[in-house]
Amino acid sequence: MGITIRRATIHDIQAMQNANLHNLPENYQLKYYMYHILSWPQASYVATTYDDITPEADLYAEDDGKAEAEVPEIVTKDVEDPKGDTSYIDKGEKIVGYVLGKMDDDPDAQNRKAHGHITSLSVMRTYRRMGLAEKLMRQSLYAMCECYGAESVMLHVRKSNRAALNLYLALEFTTSSVEHSYYQDGEDANCMKLELKLEDLVPSKFQKGVEDDFSQDLI
Ligand SMILES: CC(C)(COP(=O)(O)OP(=O)(O)OC[C@H]1O[C@@H](n2cnc3c(N)ncnc32)[C@H](O)[C@@H]1OP(=O)(O)O)[C@@H](O)C(=O)NCCC(=O)NCCS
Repeated sequence: MGITIRRATIHDIQAMQNANLHNLPENYQLKYYMYHILSWPQASYVATTYDDITPEADLYAEDDGKAEAEVPEIVTKDVEDPKGDTSYIDKGEKIVGYVLGKMDDDPDAQNRKAHGHITSLSVMRTYRRMGLAEKLMRQSLYAMCECYGAESVMLHVRKSNRAALNLYLALEFTTSSVEHSYYQDGEDANCMKLELKLEDLVPSKFQKGVEDDFSQDLI
């Protein structure tokens, strides 16, 4: 099961909203997702995976006793996605995490330096601690800086949200202020900020995969 991180599109907004409703008490109308994606198309990302929704028994055509070495023909059956599950964008493709980002749209801020804002981030429970949130954040921060010239980015996080606070500290955000009773239930928010420098943000710098060993290539 591979996971892809790609730019969010308008087709993803319902599945993003679904993930948000599952994971966070701060929810938004679909038009707010649309506003982000249409206004700053480079700033929001999704993590997606493909479910193998083809029943195993249907994967191969019946073995009619032909040569053993013969590769069985794969039967691609037209299987419906689980009805009403809004995690799915397309047949089998579902969203397991997202980051929703934007640029400062305060009309009074026209003459100020450009800065970005992380509106929302979440990863579905079974896909956590795999590095997805960190990757989604790094992609968004890089794009905000490269495409929109953001010099800094800020976000709000609940004081009690240990997982998110650790994530943002790992990304080198610092707390710039505490906003009292920021959330509807009265909880305080840490307002966190990160100065952006393009050369420090290049996503390939953070890939932890095995390096290619070209000396082993056969010529
Ligand atoms: C916060 C959240 C997005 C993290 O997603 P994730 O994909 O599991 O995070 P990652 O795997 O990328 O973790 C990166 C780092 O964040 C920190 N972290 C993540 N989850 C953590 C946890 N449960 N406890 C402590 N630290 C945690 C760790 O430093 C981690 O690095 P490590 O795994 O090398 O120790 C996820 O827990 C979530 O969706 N929570 C509910 C929604 C939410 O709180 N969103 C943030 C709103 S501000």
